[in-house]
Amino acid sequence: MEPAKGRAQRTRQVLLFFVFLGGSLVCSKTWSYSVAEEMEVGTFIANVVKDMGVDVEDLAARGARVIFDDYKPYLRLDLRNGDLLLNRQLDREALCDLTERCILHFQVLFENPLQFSRAELLVKDINDHTPTFLDNHILLKISEGTALGTLFQIDSAQDLDVGKNGVQNYTISPNPHFHLKLRDSDEGRKYPELVLDQSLDREKEAEFSLTLTAVDGGSPPRSGTTLIHVVVLDINDNAPEFEKPVYEVHVPESSPLDSLIIKVSATDLDAGINGELTYSFSHVSRDVRKTFEIHPISGEVYLKAPLDYEIIPSYIINIQAIDGGSLSGKASILVQVVDMNDNPPEIAMTSLTSPIPENSSPEMVVAVFSIRDQDAGDNGRMVCSIQNNIPFLLKPTFKNFYALVTERPVDREVRSEYNITITVTDLGTPRLKTEYNITVLISDVNDNAPAFTQTSYTLFVRENNSPALHIGSVSATDRDSGTNAQVTYSLLPPQDPHLPLASLVSINADNGHLFALRSLDYEALQAFEFRVGATDRG
Ligand SMILES: *[C@@H]1O[C@H](CO)[C@@H](O)[C@H](O)[C@H]1NC(C)=O
Ligand SMILES: *[C@@H]1O[C@H](CO)[C@@H](O)[C@H](O)[C@H]1NC(C)=O
Ligand SMILES: *[C@@H]1O[C@H](CO)[C@@H](O)[C@H](O)[C@H]1NC(C)=O
Repeated sequence: MEPAKGRAQRTRQVLLFFVFLGGSLVCSKTWSYSVAEEMEVGTFIANVVKDMGVDVEDLAARGARVIFDDYKPYLRLDLRNGDLLLNRQLDREALCDLTERCILHFQVLFENPLQFSRAELLVKDINDHTPTFLDNHILLKISEGTALGTLFQIDSAQDLDVGKNGVQNYTISPNPHFHLKLRDSDEGRKYPELVLDQSLDREKEAEFSLTLTAVDGGSPPRSGTTLIHVVVLDINDNAPEFEKPVYEVHVPESSPLDSLIIKVSATDLDAGINGELTYSFSHVSRDVRKTFEIHPISGEVYLKAPLDYEIIPSYIINIQAIDGGSLSGKASILVQVVDMNDNPPEIAMTSLTSPIPENSSPEMVVAVFSIRDQDAGDNGRMVCSIQNNIPFLLKPTFKNFYALVTERPVDREVRSEYNITITVTDLGTPRLKTEYNITVLISDVNDNAPAFTQTSYTLFVRENNSPALHIGSVSATDRDSGTNAQVTYSLLPPQDPHLPLASLVSINADNGHLFALRSLDYEALQAFEFRVGATDRG
C-alpha cells in the first residue's frame, strides 16, 4: 500500500497531543437541567445568562449556541435573553428506552473567543404507558396429581416506562388452587409464578380460568390483565431438561435478518403429549423479543431485527421448554454481538469564518467542528488531519471538537484562497474515511505601498512647445486589491525651492500623465528635475 503510506506522510496528524487553546477553554462545571418527557415545545428550561454568568449582549456577539452530543436540536437558545427552551417534544421511551436515568449531554459553545460549557438534560419519566401482557390468553395444561408447591412460570407484563412507573406488582383473582409468587429476573424486573396450593382433580373440575393483573407504580397506577385458562390433564411425571443451562454464541452485528443464531434442545422422559416439547422465550426483555425469534418445535433461534453493537452489545435470552402437561425446563442463551466497523466518521461544522484578513496574528480560529464515530474500540478511534502545504493547523480542543487555526500570518498577495480538506479516518478494519472541504478566502489589508515601474523617468520636450502639451507619463502599481490598490499621483514639492515648478508641469492624478504648462525655451532652461508621488486610497 505504498501510495497510501506516502499520502499519510504528507498530511499532519494530530491524534495524541491535546493542546488546549487559550487558558480557560472549558468551563469545569457541568450544568444540570431536567425536564419531564412530553412537555410542550417552548417550555422554559433554564437561563444561561444567570447560570453561566455571561452578558446578554455577548450571546449574539460571541456566536453562542447549544450542541447536543448526537447533534439533534432538543433545546433552543434564545440569544435575546439567554433562555434555554425546549425545541421539540421529548419522548423518554424513544430516547433512552429502558435506561432509568435518561440524560442528554450537550455543550453551550461560545465561538469568539472559543469556550465550551458542559451541560446535561435529565429527561424525567411520566407514567404514560400501561402494563401489557404479550398474550391476553394463556393456556396452562396441568396434570392431576401434580405435587403441591409446583411452580408454573407466567410471562411477565411489559411497561415501556421505567423505575416506579414500570410494572411493580401482580395480583391474581381469588381462587382455591393457586397463589402468586413474585420472582426477580436477571435484569431486576419482577415476574409472576403460580404456586399450586390444592391438588387438581380432573373428575371434579376439568378446567377453569383466573385473571392475572399487572400494576405499575405510577400515580395514578395503570394496570393490564391477562386470562389464564387452566386445563387439567392425566399424570405427567417428568419435566423437560435442556442439554446445558447456558448457551453462548458470538454473532457479528452485520448478520442478515433470518440468520440462524443457535439451535437449542431439551429432552423429556415422558411419552405422548407429556413428552411433547414447545420452546419459547421466558420473561425476556422487550429488546430480546424485538430482535430474536424461537421456533416452538425445532428450538432454532433466528434473527428478526438488525443487531447494533453500539446500542446493545449483548443479550441474555431466557428460554423454556414446556411439555404437554405444562411442566417446564429452563436455560438461557448469551448472545455476544461482535462489533464491525460499520460507521464512517462524521464531521459537523460548527462555525466557519471566511474571509479572514491577511496578516492576522497566528492561531486565529478559522473554523470549529466536531467529529464522531459511532463504532466502538479501534473502529471508533479517529485520526483527523488536513493537508500540510498550507499555513493552517488543527488543534484538538474540547472532547471531540477541533479548531482550525492559522499557523502564521497569511499574505493575500501570495494566495487569496485556500481549499482545505479535513480528513477523518477511523482505525477500524477496514478503515473508513470521511472528507469535508472548506474554502477559506483571505481578505485584503492595505499592507503594500504603490511602487513606480521605474526609479526615474527621462522626458524629452522640443522647445517652443504649445502650452498644455502631453510630455509623457509615469506609472505605479499596488499589489493590494480594491481601493487599497487604487493609485493617485501628485507632484511633490521641489527639493530646490528656487525652481518655479508649479508654473512648468502638471500631472493627472488618476493616470499619471504629465503636461507642460507653458512654452519652454532651450536657451533659458536645458533640463530640470521634479519629483512625483503615488499614494493608494486604502
Ligand atoms: C402486591 O399486591 C398485593 C395485593 O394487593 C399486596 O398484598 C402486596 O403487598 C403487593 N406487593 C408489593 C411489593 O407492593
Ligand atoms: C478551490 O475550489 C474551487 C471549487 O472547487 C475551485 O474553483 C478553485 O479553483 C479552488 N482553488 C484553489 C486555490 O485550488
Ligand atoms: C474535496 O476536495 C478534494 C480535492 O479537490 C477532492 O478530491 C474531493 O473529492 C473533495 N471531497 C468532497 C467530499 O467534496
